[in-house]
Formats: sequence, structure tokens, C-alpha cells
Amino acid sequence: MPANDALSVAHALHARRSVRAFKDQPVDTELLKTIFADAQRAPSGGNLQPWQATLVTGEPWQRVKDAVAARIAMGREGYQPEYDIYPKGLTEPWEARRFGVGEALYASLGIPRDNKAGRLAQFMDNYKGFGAPVMLFLHCSRIMGPPQWSDMGMWLQSVMLLLVEHGLASCPQECWAMYGATVRETLGLGEDQILFTGLAIGHADTDAAVNNWPVPRVGLEEVIDWQGF
Ligand SMILES: Cc1cc2nc3c(=O)[nH]c(=O)nc-3n(C[C@H](O)[C@H](O)[C@H](O)COP(=O)(O)O)c2cc1C
Repeated sequence: MPANDALSVAHALHARRSVRAFKDQPVDTELLKTIFADAQRAPSGGNLQPWQATLVTGEPWQRVKDAVAARIAMGREGYQPEYDIYPKGLTEPWEARRFGVGEALYASLGIPRDNKAGRLAQFMDNYKGFGAPVMLFLHCSRIMGPPQWSDMGMWLQSVMLLLVEHGLASCPQECWAMYGATVRETLGLGEDQILFTGLAIGHADTDAAVNNWPVPRVGLEEVIDWQGF
């Protein structure tokens, strides 16, 4: 992280993390409007700006949580996946990365592998938005393909970095796509929309152990192939 440069992009990149415990403190609506106005500067192929978002707080947010809880109670019968969250049969090196971050998260909470109930309870906290007062649901038209989904990712990261700049925190949550139809129906989204992810937004509980563990990244040698340098 660059020293003495609290407003640099690098600072925001290092300061952002997926926050999984929020304070019971409301988020200023005018601030959110400013953040989304700035995030509109995110690039997109052909300037399509394919991202569409629905923000909920208060009663509408509770309605989503209740509707999804009812589906969860149905067990596997309740699943309505919008898409495969991971490729079927995820291979290395990606599977090890996924496994590694999960283990690090549970270790931060002192939940060992054999404590299946403890791990499930932590996962289920996803469906309460980890206590966030605001939930953003990111969706787009079903006609969009991989390039436009990547555009949605750029918008999402822009929003997350702007939240950091303004002292707020977030956690992207594709787990909501496991109950896509219920989320869409509850939000009043048309059948033409596909749900990509949720984004929990709020003030971080900075004391919570789940927000205080080093999140690993692989070295550059694993992702960048320098040719001609
Ligand atoms: C699109 C997207 C969806 C995600 N969905 C979830 C989720 O459902 N639940 C969760 O706890 N974390 C979720 N994450 C967070 C990732 O686990 C996290 O970004 C990754 O482990 C790196 O950690 P960091 O964000 O703290 O740097 C998601 C991240 C992204 C980008």
C-alpha cells in the first residue's frame, strides 16, 4: 500500500475486503446516490452499460430475506440457480484457491472442518446480508453474454472502491443467485432479467474477527506472462 496516500486507487484496492459483519447503522441515501453517479463512469464494451441494480433497505429488504428463508427451508428442492456459480468440476489451480480462502475464513472464526453446523451457520449468515442495512442486487438483461457480464464486474468493483473511499464497506454475494427466481419475483424484476449477485453495503464492524484475517492472493508469476520484456 502506498504510504501517506489515503485517497489513491492503490490504497482503496488494499483497503477493500469482503466484509462479513456490519454495524447496525444506516447508510446515507444521498451518499449512495453520489457513489452510483460516480460508478457510472465504469467502462463497458460499446458503452452498453449493461448493469442494472435494485437497492433494498428496511421492509423490502426484509421481504427478500423472508422469501429466501422460506426457499432455504425447502432444502435442495428450494434451489433455483440462475447460473453455475463455479464451473462444474473445478480443477487446479482454482479449486485450491477456493478451498484455501474458505479455510482461512473459518480459521478466523475458530470453526474447524469437523464443525459442520458451525460452518453452515456462518454460510447461512450470507442470507441475512451479514447484518448489512442495504442490499444491492445486480442484474442485467438475459440477452447479455460474457463480455457484458465482465462489464458488470467492472461496475461492481467501481462501486466497492467508491464505498471504501466514503468509509463504507461491502461484500459481493453471488449466493443469492442460488435462489434467483425468488429474489427476482420479490424485487418485481421481469423474466427478462438475470440476477448476477448481491452486494451487502454498510458500515463494517471493524472489531469482528471475520473482518480481520489476511485474504491471500497468488503471486504475479501465476497470472501474468510477460513476453518481450
Ligand atoms: C461476484 C462475487 C461474488 C461473491 N459471492 C460471495 C458470497 O456469496 N459469499 C461470500 O461470503 N463471499 C462472496 N464473495 C467474496 C469472495 O469470497 C472474495 O472476494 C474473495 O475471497 C477475495 O476476498 P476479498 O474480497 O476479501 O479480497 C464474492 C465475490 C465476488 C467478486
